[in-house]
Amino acid sequence: MAISTVVFDAYGTLYDIQSVASVTEQAFPGRGDMITQIWRMKQLEYTWLRSLMRRYEDFEAVTRQSLVYTLRVLGLGYEEALLEVIMDKYVNLDPYPDTLSTLERLQDRKLAILSNGAPAMLDALVRNTGLDRFLDKTISVDSRATFKPSPEAYSLIESELGAAPAEVLFVSSNPWDAIGAKAAGLTVAWIERVTPEAMAAACESCALVAPLTMFKAMRMQMDELGLAPDHRVRGLFDLPGLLPPIARP
Ligand code: LAC
Repeated sequence: MAISTVVFDAYGTLYDIQSVASVTEQAFPGRGDMITQIWRMKQLEYTWLRSLMRRYEDFEAVTRQSLVYTLRVLGLGYEEALLEVIMDKYVNLDPYPDTLSTLERLQDRKLAILSNGAPAMLDALVRNTGLDRFLDKTISVDSRATFKPSPEAYSLIESELGAAPAEVLFVSSNPWDAIGAKAAGLTVAWIERVTPEAMAAACESCALVAPLTMFKAMRMQMDELGLAPDHRVRGLFDLPGLLPPIARP
């Protein structure tokens, strides 16, 4: 069956979560990188912990709680207003340089986001960055009250878009998300933004591993979970090459 529908992860896939470093660095000079990496690692951990504990709170709450954790463990004092300034970057993240052009080139398909993001934060992000013009739908896991990689989250693709798994290509740069989608029966393209060679070189050349290198080692390399993505691509720009032109459904 031909792929009629392409569904993207949002944070880290269409949007560069590392772009929060511009605000964290401004708020806490010299600590921006450390804050950014701990924050994102904890944010994801909290989604998994909350899903396992069945104590769902939405991604906006999780994002705020993980930011509070990060500032606390680094011993950084702050006023509530500063928290709002940093959080605001989450609705103004930078899209990757190839995001818009890829969505434009795939207009013969139905295009959507499936994200852990809370509905209001996702809608604001998509609107603020102009991606709403290219997407048919932005789907949040919120209605399932659990996070990816739970199969209930991925089942929203079929129920919200009416697309059978065989017609869907799911795209993520997050290894855990690529594997989660695979486990849920989808065809998956994983964006490998950091090659294993570049990773090994970065780890070899520094006795003290930089926070961003640690993040890349923990969250940007393929996992050992007994599943593999169907496609490995280097960027969003590779996707049109996987998808021959079709008449739009
Ligand atoms: C997303 C994140 C968690 O679901 O990458 O968009």
